[in-house]
Amino acid sequence: MIRSVIRGTGSALPAHCVSNAELAERVDTSDDWIVERTGIRQRYIADESETTSTLATAAARAALAAAGVDPSEIGLIILATATPDHTFPASATQVQAALGCGGGVAFDVQAVCSGFLYALATADSLLRTGMAKKALVIGAETFSRILDWEDRTTCVLFGDGAGAVVLEAQDVDEDGPGILASRLHAEGAHKDMLFVDGGPSTTGTVGKLRMKGREVFRHAVVNLADVLGEVLVETGMTADDIDWVVPHQANARILDATARKLGLPPEKVVVTVDQHANTSAASVPLALDTAVRDGRIKAGDLVMFEAMGGGFTWGASLARM
Ligand code: UT7
Repeated sequence: MIRSVIRGTGSALPAHCVSNAELAERVDTSDDWIVERTGIRQRYIADESETTSTLATAAARAALAAAGVDPSEIGLIILATATPDHTFPASATQVQAALGCGGGVAFDVQAVCSGFLYALATADSLLRTGMAKKALVIGAETFSRILDWEDRTTCVLFGDGAGAVVLEAQDVDEDGPGILASRLHAEGAHKDMLFVDGGPSTTGTVGKLRMKGREVFRHAVVNLADVLGEVLVETGMTADDIDWVVPHQANARILDATARKLGLPPEKVVVTVDQHANTSAASVPLALDTAVRDGRIKAGDLVMFEAMGGGFTWGASLARM
């Protein structure tokens, strides 16, 4: 059977790291509050020379090197982002140009924090229909550009960064590697709980992020547990079969609550929110790359990806490495 196999992972972070204590010098907050309520200890913030497409390109290069794949072999680039360099063209096309791999397909996917899950499922579908043989799936964000630095309820939560995977369509056995199943959802009725108050077709400005954090938290735990359950049913697996969960990194308490609901031991959950904060679409591939490079995630492991974000949108995907 043809499956999309993860051949390599990569990630990139801005050079500048900002601790909670540094943030508390300019915002009415404290290291204690941020750590206790979110688990976040620091975040990386892009300077003017670092954009979504430069971070995405650096992450893509690292993933290509890990996979041993030349940019010329890539026929499809899907970049998940809610903070593109420009309203258009798609930042994926800027990555394509920077990598020098013209001739294929390149476009952005916008599902905010669930963007990487949406991009992964889309790439998987296109690879299995033969649209391309090898793909780059990237999550990259510069959320620092859309934060209201006067709003302590949101500005302490987010950071910038990028993560990428190289996928290849391969003919594999039933118990071989690759993406086994993905489930995506959207529920647009909840727009006002998490949105940006600007855009080209409304205010003509970029706008700032607005969030009703407590409500988002409540929905996240329920929706994530549901979609993880759906993927387990679809693949005939149980929580015991899963080696690692690589979740969207919004809040350590959401990660704990979701793992508890599924009966998953916390040791199986990859946590990077303390280091990177919430990097939206970048957080899942950034966490994946971290756990691959430090040796936790190995070939043959069953890994569950999951995310929930603005829209609301949410999804999960199960892959054998
Ligand atoms: O990635 C997309 C998905 N996003 C999420 O998943 C985010 C989900 N939500 C959350 O992670 C949490 O709801 C937050 C971290 C955003 C907030 O935590 P909370 O425990 O729900 O706090 P809260 O909003 O109920 O606020 C508690 C108190 C409030 O003060 P009062 O009204 O009790 O006096 C806030 O004003 O904490 C106050 N507060 C702060 N204090 C210090 C809010 N932000 C801060 C802050 N520093 N940065």
